[in-house]
Amino acid sequence: MTLPTPQGEVILRPARMDDMPAFRVLRLQALRDHPEAFSADYQTHLTVDDANWGRYFNFGENAIIHFAFQGNNLVGMTGVRLDTSPKTKHNANIWGVYILPAWRGHGIARALVHACCDWARAKGALIARLGVTTTNQSALRCYESCGFQITGTDPKAILVDGKFYDEYLMAREL
Ligand SMILES: CC(C)(COP(=O)(O)OP(=O)(O)OC[C@H]1O[C@@H](n2cnc3c(N)ncnc32)[C@H](O)[C@@H]1OP(=O)(O)O)[C@@H](O)C(=O)NCCC(=O)NCCS
Repeated sequence: MTLPTPQGEVILRPARMDDMPAFRVLRLQALRDHPEAFSADYQTHLTVDDANWGRYFNFGENAIIHFAFQGNNLVGMTGVRLDTSPKTKHNANIWGVYILPAWRGHGIARALVHACCDWARAKGALIARLGVTTTNQSALRCYESCGFQITGTDPKAILVDGKFYDEYLMAREL
């Protein structure tokens, strides 16, 4: 799928194995620059070797990452994982939503979240879920614009530099 932006056309597509080096750079930037937005930890990921980064791409049938590219440059990502228990496999969990600063405000995150929701629906999922730090207004508004609603609050979900952050739990029917 292509998305026109004022900075040129952006291509949205599922991750491929050869995207791994670019994914590593983008993911580390996300974790380094927005520690309060992600439960994954920058320092921990910094020490992960190539083989283990490769494991993130062994999706099997239950997960996918959608990437946004401008030319050969990776500018954004969003992942989704389906639960695997027979009792919870109707749930799809959105994770890792990140757009490079220079590419924000053009609808790329919304398009990636929709792509993940479409994929999960096609896999039979009924509900998409995610967590967002209560102070992260841009992400909260983005998810609302994708049809997500706040379903609860997870207190002290994330601890960064001695400060706790609450998370809103959000969900939407697929
Ligand atoms: C949050 C983030 C992913 C949004 O990416 P984006 O591509 O700029 O978002 P979009 O352009 O798709 O915006 C979709 C909607 O979100 C809302 N939104 C996005 N950025 C916003 C901002 N800075 N202020 C207010 N609303 C905002 C708007 O409603 C927007 O729709 P509109 O432009 O039609 O009004 C991006 O800012 C980012 O990567 N932030 C750092 C990492 C992060 O917080 N990730 C989320 C973890 S839960």
